[in-house]
Amino acid sequence: MGRPPTNLHADVAEVLLDEERIRAKVLELGERISADYAGRELTLVSVLKGSLPFMADLMRAIHLPLTIDLMEVSSYGGAATETSGLVRIIKDLSASIDGRDALLVEDIIDTGLTLNYLLRYLRGKNPASLRICTLLDKPARRLVEIPVDYVGFTIPDQFVVGYGLDYGEHYRNLRYVGVLRPEVYST
Ligand code: IMP
Repeated sequence: MGRPPTNLHADVAEVLLDEERIRAKVLELGERISADYAGRELTLVSVLKGSLPFMADLMRAIHLPLTIDLMEVSSYGGAATETSGLVRIIKDLSASIDGRDALLVEDIIDTGLTLNYLLRYLRGKNPASLRICTLLDKPARRLVEIPVDYVGFTIPDQFVVGYGLDYGEHYRNLRYVGVLRPEVYST
């Protein structure tokens, strides 16, 4: 865990997505998902901790009966702003998704390594279907091909924080998504 920042906003070089844009996009995704899953047995599976605000807002934008479940994973090794692809499950699903329509709710897809692992893991649980909804997509750094069904925003290759996303466990509570000043992680 990093040293606590003294001023969250001062460490952000640029606001990429403000609160209003995020809110509008979440409502739009909620409408699409509600239409696509009408009459089905939807379970939203979110991956802690980064997806927490997105999951909380998205589930309330979907007007269908649904259940939720939470997983937590961590990736081994790598620099603080990189993922290694070696994933450890810290918290597993608490209920079976066998025969259910599972929608994996993610904060960001970067290299795709974490999600690739999770997809393989969840497919093994025999859901009736398995799709992905991510708030942010950074396709520039993708190392594995991932079929993403719902994307909020496609963003450039910059390290972002806020609305759940962290650097050293901080900045998750920012209401917007912003680009972290490179000085913050290079020092
Ligand atoms: P991937 O395995 O490289 O796709 O990385 C996915 C995970 O890395 C995300 O769930 C985030 O936790 C983290 N991550 C990737 N890019 C960023 C970023 O720009 N800001 C904060 N976390 C990120």
